[in-house]
Amino acid sequence: MKVFVVGASGAIGTRLVPQLITAGHEVIGTFRSPAHAERVRALGAKAVALDMLDARAVREAVLEAEPDAVVHQATSLTDVRFGRNLDKAFVATNRLRREGTDALVAAAREAGVSRFVAQSFASMRYARTGGAVKTEDDPLDRSPLDGMRETAAAMNHLDLAVTDAGGIALRYGLFYGAPNDGLIVPVRNRQFPIVGEGGGMGSFIHLDDAAAATVLALEHAGPAIYNIVDDDPAPTREWLPVLAEALGAKPPRRFPVWLARLFAGDPGVMLGTEARGASNAKAKRELGWTLKYPSWRQGFAQVYGAQRKAVPPARATTTAVGA
Ligand SMILES: NC(=O)c1ccc[n+]([C@@H]2O[C@H](COP(=O)([O-])OP(=O)(O)OC[C@H]3O[C@@H](n4cnc5c(N)ncnc54)[C@H](OP(=O)(O)O)[C@@H]3O)[C@@H](O)[C@H]2O)c1
Repeated sequence: MKVFVVGASGAIGTRLVPQLITAGHEVIGTFRSPAHAERVRALGAKAVALDMLDARAVREAVLEAEPDAVVHQATSLTDVRFGRNLDKAFVATNRLRREGTDALVAAAREAGVSRFVAQSFASMRYARTGGAVKTEDDPLDRSPLDGMRETAAAMNHLDLAVTDAGGIALRYGLFYGAPNDGLIVPVRNRQFPIVGEGGGMGSFIHLDDAAAATVLALEHAGPAIYNIVDDDPAPTREWLPVLAEALGAKPPRRFPVWLARLFAGDPGVMLGTEARGASNAKAKRELGWTLKYPSWRQGFAQVYGAQRKAVPPARATTTAVGA
């Protein structure tokens, strides 16, 4: 297939493009930052500059490319600081998930594209009641907290717009596997504490496994939603010390809820205490997906063990709550 990948220069896009090419696809990959054209070309794709918020440019680029399939991997999270208000950190990404998705879906429709796959997110979205691990059929949080309402609404918009158009939304877990993973700096600097009892569940996914699931999703008819997470959703009190050790950092601090709220706001406290994990059973069953990194328990050590000497400790000024 000829595959048009929006966001080919990003964390997941750069893993996805080579896997698509290996699977026999032809790839047109878009970038936003001018310096990233060469990055996309070096992966073996045709590189196209595109601002997804320019609906006319999106339409022209898709019609000109005449793709069989479109993949939306655009976010705007480079160098974003995660403070008390997630909606502030996600302003640009939320626009990409709303306006950007609408423009791309409309263009894909007009171009007669048969497959549409888009990046969504699993963490912090499912209702904070009942079991600790949620499937795609479980309800989403109907009353998102202050400081993350816009972000939740934008993700819901994307899921709906994509599936209404017959496409597939992939609710990825928290990415890891690259030197710029969002948790590296705050965990190294002990700015990501265990909050309260640390019962908030995390679902992780290695970038290579996320890309592999995306290639498989393109071969699958929609509409559908899949959680693309590893086999091992776990509470913060379990995964955070393992991550700190893999990074060669000191063990995480422990904050009572009231103190964490001061630094990380309600979304940060929710992530650490109430968030639900996600099940990957549907993706494995329906897509025939197998994981190279089935658990962060081995994955963190494999990835960060290799990076440890290469990544110097960096400075950060806020407490992170993830992507
Ligand atoms: N599920 C998760 O945990 C998750 C999800 C997403 C990101 N992250 C993390 O966030 C950090 C940054 O992610 P990232 O490296 O992928 O960078 P990013 O800044 O989020 O960019 C992602 C992709 O979107 C493109 N893009 C940005 N604005 C655009 C626009 N207006 N129109 C079209 N395309 C646009 C970027 O192009 P250019 O690069 O050319 O500007 C890039 O290809 C990484 O640590 C990553 O792991 C985590």
